[in-house]
Amino acid sequence: MKARYISLKPLVDWRRKRRPLDFSDLFSECRPVVLEIGFGNGEYLGRRAAVERSKNFVGLEREWQSVWRALRYIARNELSNVRIIKADARWAIFRLFGEHTFSEIYSLFPCPWPKERHKRHRLFSKKFLQRLNNILEPGGRLWIVTDDGDYAKWVIEQSQSTGFKVDQSAVPAGTYGTKYENKWAKAGLKFFCLLTFCKEYECPNFDVKEYTLQTHRIVHFNPDEFRPIPVRGQIVVDFKDCLFDPQQQRCLVRAVVVEDEFVQDFWIEIRKHEANWHIRPASGCSWIPTLGLQKALDAIRDSCLRNIPTNRS
Ligand SMILES: C[S@@+](CC[C@H](N)C(=O)[O-])C[C@H]1O[C@@H](n2cnc3c(N)ncnc32)[C@H](O)[C@@H]1O
Repeated sequence: MKARYISLKPLVDWRRKRRPLDFSDLFSECRPVVLEIGFGNGEYLGRRAAVERSKNFVGLEREWQSVWRALRYIARNELSNVRIIKADARWAIFRLFGEHTFSEIYSLFPCPWPKERHKRHRLFSKKFLQRLNNILEPGGRLWIVTDDGDYAKWVIEQSQSTGFKVDQSAVPAGTYGTKYENKWAKAGLKFFCLLTFCKEYECPNFDVKEYTLQTHRIVHFNPDEFRPIPVRGQIVVDFKDCLFDPQQQRCLVRAVVVEDEFVQDFWIEIRKHEANWHIRPASGCSWIPTLGLQKALDAIRDSCLRNIPTNRS
């Protein structure tokens, strides 16, 4: 099969953009913006974008396979009004989008995570719904379709004090034509549950401030004795590989930082500069400044200082 080039233009490189994202900059024309959360294969997103040319569409999805399929669909159908964001929605909706960005937000067959111990992975918790309220325009609409009655009940419970009026109805199988709708229809389901949320009032804004990162300078660093100490607690920092280049006087430590639902995997460098060693995220890595990232830098500094005799630190 002949290899086909898929344009990456619709994929938003959000780590390198100013946050919250400015969609008037990301789309060539300023139109109402619709967000789909967890678009799977992207069939419904693509079909809507092809038909509703007077709107811009944003797809949010955490799996590469899905992102790739959506990009292929966009390329084949030459859609200029779709942008794709690969990120975890539990984190992204708090960090990437500003107040009143979307005229409509929807999600088709979000994972219901039925097992008790997995419930924390569910989308559309109270806090999540409150944030969706923030990022929806006044009078905006959120809607969710699910095959799972227990999950629908849970979402309705979560919706108390989120600024939404909730309405529940049934939609016949075959309405959206997505992979999961087809799967449940084949399994014999004739109707699905449609939850519609109309924004009645504004929720207090969860304004997440960007963190100002502080890098460190230390006088002594001994690569032979250096053992980075992981961080435990609500924020978890693990250090994986550690490489030292004696010629460049540079040590690289791979850090994995987990805070809430956000994971960052990047390299920290400890580099000799004049009389000091400078500890900072290595250039060439994608990272965003967060408290967890600061804790990783602090942990490297503390680990460096641990083996220095007190009269030399
Ligand atoms: C059950 S599938 C439904 C896919 C599609 N909407 C459909 O109807 O076929 C759920 C989708 O949501 C995505 N997803 C689950 N949790 C997510 C999260 N936290 N952030 C972004 N996407 C998520 C999954 O990768 C998957 O593609």
